[in-house]
Parts: sequence; C-alpha cells; structure tokens
Amino acid sequence: MTDVTILLDGQPVAAECGETLLSALRRAESGVRSICGGRCACGTCRVAVAADWAARLPAPSRNEARLLQVLPGAGPAHRLACQITLNQETAGLSFRLDTPPTRPRVTTSDPSHMETPS
Ligand code: FES
Repeated sequence: MTDVTILLDGQPVAAECGETLLSALRRAESGVRSICGGRCACGTCRVAVAADWAARLPAPSRNEARLLQVLPGAGPAHRLACQITLNQETAGLSFRLDTPPTRPRVTTSDPSHMETPS
C-alpha cells in the first residue's frame, strides 16, 4: 500500500505514512546502508535532500544533529534516513543516498603516515 511517493535520484519510491525513510529505502532495495540498524549511531544511512526540502523537513533531533556534525563532508542538506518519519507532508521528498566515505585505514606496514624523527 502506498501512502506517499518519495523521489530517490528522481525515481519514485512507494512509502507508507508513519514509517521511516530508511524503512522505505530498505523495502525498495535501494542499497541504503544502516550499520546500527536505525538507532542514530552510525551515520551510514545519510541522505542529501534537495535544497528546497532542507528547510521543509522537521529540524533534526539533538542526537541526529550531533552525528551529522561529525560525519565527513557534512552539510545543511544532509539528514539521516533512519530519523525521518514519512507522512503526507513529506510526499515528493527528493533526495539521494550519500553514505559518508569510510576512514582510510593505516597499517603498520605502511610507514608513510609516521613522523620523521628530528
Ligand atoms: S542507520 Fe545508523 S544512523 Fe541511521
């Protein structure tokens, strides 16, 4: 049953009122990541909403805002899909997936990150 339609990269995705954006994206097999399972702890479900939607969505909670601040490449259009509840007011929400890049791994066999002794 489709209550609202949202737009992922301009393509319609069916969603139900009351579910999270993350839930709708999972059902649509969008490839959205969610390492923490939707508990606002990992940031992998990050999306970038269209500019005209950034101000229309309810403000992020303190937890969401804190997590968004520490993610690489954070900007005002970023939100967490697990923290957006869909309803009639979000019909037509336009966004794209924007999983933050993972941190580069440094191994002990790669000395390039080490300081030169003075
Ligand atoms: S799924 Fe982890 S923060 Fe949204």
